[in-house]
Parts: sequence; C-alpha cells; structure tokens
Amino acid sequence: MKVTVIGAGNVGATCADVLAHREIANEIVVLDIKEGVAEGKSLDIWQTSPINNYDSKTTGVTNDYSATSGSEVVVITSGLPRKPGMSRDDLIETNSGIVKSVTENVVRYAPDAIIIVVSNPLDVMTYQAHVTSGLPNTRIMGMAGILDTARYRAFLADALHVSPKDIQAIIMGGHGDTMVPLPRYTTVAGIPVSELIDSEKLDAIIERTKLGGGELVKLMGTSAWYAPGAAAAQMVEAIVRDQKRVFPVCMKLEGEYGIDDCYLGVPVILGKNGIEKVIELDLNGKEKALLETSREHVKEVMAVLDRING
Ligand code: NAI
Ligand code: 2OP
Repeated sequence: MKVTVIGAGNVGATCADVLAHREIANEIVVLDIKEGVAEGKSLDIWQTSPINNYDSKTTGVTNDYSATSGSEVVVITSGLPRKPGMSRDDLIETNSGIVKSVTENVVRYAPDAIIIVVSNPLDVMTYQAHVTSGLPNTRIMGMAGILDTARYRAFLADALHVSPKDIQAIIMGGHGDTMVPLPRYTTVAGIPVSELIDSEKLDAIIERTKLGGGELVKLMGTSAWYAPGAAAAQMVEAIVRDQKRVFPVCMKLEGEYGIDDCYLGVPVILGKNGIEKVIELDLNGKEKALLETSREHVKEVMAVLDRING
C-alpha cells in the first residue's frame, strides 16, 4: 500500500521516516518542488532500513505526481514554516497558493486518496484543500489536535512525574492561541487530572500548551517537526490499519457542536474510510464559549482566504 508525503522539509521528511521505520506503509513516496531534496532525503531514510530492520521503501521525486498515483493517503506538508515573530496566520498568502496547486495535482493523480493537511495556518489550509479537491469532508482533514494534545500530555507528564502514556486528553478548536484544552476530559490512567494537580499549575500548563508552537519557534528559529511529523504519521496509521482511533482532527463542521461551515478540531473516529464519526461532547458553558472564540478566529482567517481566492 502506498502513502505519499508532499513536501520533503522538516515535517514531511520526519513523517516519511516514521511511516517507514514503523512499517505503516510498504511504499512511501516523498515529493518536493526543490530538485533533489526529496530524492536525497528518501535515499537517506531507505538507508536506515538495514539498521532499523524494516523493509518499507521510501522513494523521492521532484514534482513528478505520476509517482503518487494509487496512494491511499496523501499528507500535505508543503509550505513555509513560521519564523520568530510570525503567527501561523502570517503564512496564508504563500501557503494557500502552494496548497491549492498541490491539491489539484493530488486529486488528479490519486483521486481515491484520503488527504491529511499539515501546512499552516492549519484550519484554513484544510479549507483550501477541501474547496480545491471537492472531496467529501470525511476524506479531507487537518493534523493539529494530536500535536497540541501531545504537548499538553508531555507537560502534564513532567509536572506529575508519570508516564505520558498514561495521560489521556483532548484539545478541540483551531490550531492557534484560541485552541480549547479540556481539563474536564483529561485523565491519568482514568483518574481525573484535577485530583492530581492544583488548578493554578494546570492553568499554567494549559497556557504553555496554547503557546507551545511559538515556544519552539523561539528556541529553534523555525517551527517544530519531530512531534508534528509523528502526529501526521499516527493519523495515517489509523487510516491504513483501520484502527478506529479517537483523535482530535480538524474538519469542516456542518452542524456538529452547533457550528456550521467552519474548520475546527473535534474528536473523531479515524479508520479506513477517513473520519468515520464525529464525537459530540456535552460541553459546559465555559467550554462552549472558548470554542465559539476559536470559531470566530478561524472564520476571520477563512474570510482572508476567500478574499485571496477572489
Ligand atoms: P520546511 O520549509 O522544512 O519544508 C517545506 C517543504 O515544502 C520544503 O522542502 C519546500 O521545498 C516544499 N514545498 C514548497 N512548495 C512546494 C510545492 N509547491 N510542492 C511541493 N513541495 C513544496 O517546513 P516544515 O517545517 O516542514 O513545515 C511545513 C509546513 O507545516 C509549514 O507550513 C508549517 O507551518 C506547518 N506545520 C504545521 C504543523 C501543524 O501542527 N499542523 C506543525 C508544524 C509545522
Ligand atoms: C506548531 O504548532 C508551528 O503549527 C506549528 O509547531
């Protein structure tokens, strides 16, 4: 089975590496516009196979979409990353053009693929890819919630001195400062997190999570890639192995949570058909208000995209 990753930059190459060494697909195609980059990184990944003891084959191509035909899943990571001082929304003009042209090629050569968008600003790039592809909203989605939730879980693991494996949590809303962490739905091996940490410390962790992407941009001068690449690969795995995993995923809402025509992260069941079910949590007043703020922000950025697209 074939999976394609568009963009052989930091996130794309990391995603391909995880797909290969975890044998999530047996054929991985990496495509980039820069001559030789996808070929070089794919060759390097393939040369880890004897060391890491796997046989999934990674192949790189320069803008040759014929190599992507027959892909079951395509991950779109092409586009500029943030630099210090930039917000994700500052990338919209350049990245919308890239995501549009890439999506046109993806649906031409791999019309049956499920598409996972990673490029930023994530919610609105998912909108761009959805409009361009015309795919049903079960087959086009954005990756952000798994990453944001992973950051939250990692911070909690540090604070509580427990394994991150035992922390279950969900973050909804847009991929940005208005994301909606849900402490009421956060547990440590089934124990409500509020029984293990005081509210001041938990609030500080929530604030750090909201700014988690920016923290890494400040440290590295560009945005993160290990956790984003692994998060995108985890979504691919849920689809190709039909795992029915429950993840927060960005998708077009059409009435769920009382929200219409907006791209936001919500908990879904992910399997071989893509988004197989949206899970509607019974949010309280405060949580609904936070989700509404996130919706308003994403709608503003969607309107910017509409103006760009004329
Ligand atoms: P990067 O600069 O390392 O890689 C981007 C790659 O896209 C480059 O190799 C570039 O040549 C390629 N590219 C540009 N235009 C292309 C086109 N038309 N066709 C094919 N390839 C093209 O950037 P990085 O760090 O990999 O980030 C990629 C994107 O993912 C950025 O927009 C970044 O903001 C976003 N991101 C999103 C996250 C999320 O949670 N959704 C997390 C981390 C990054
Ligand atoms: C992140 O959250 C920049 O969206 C990217 O790391």
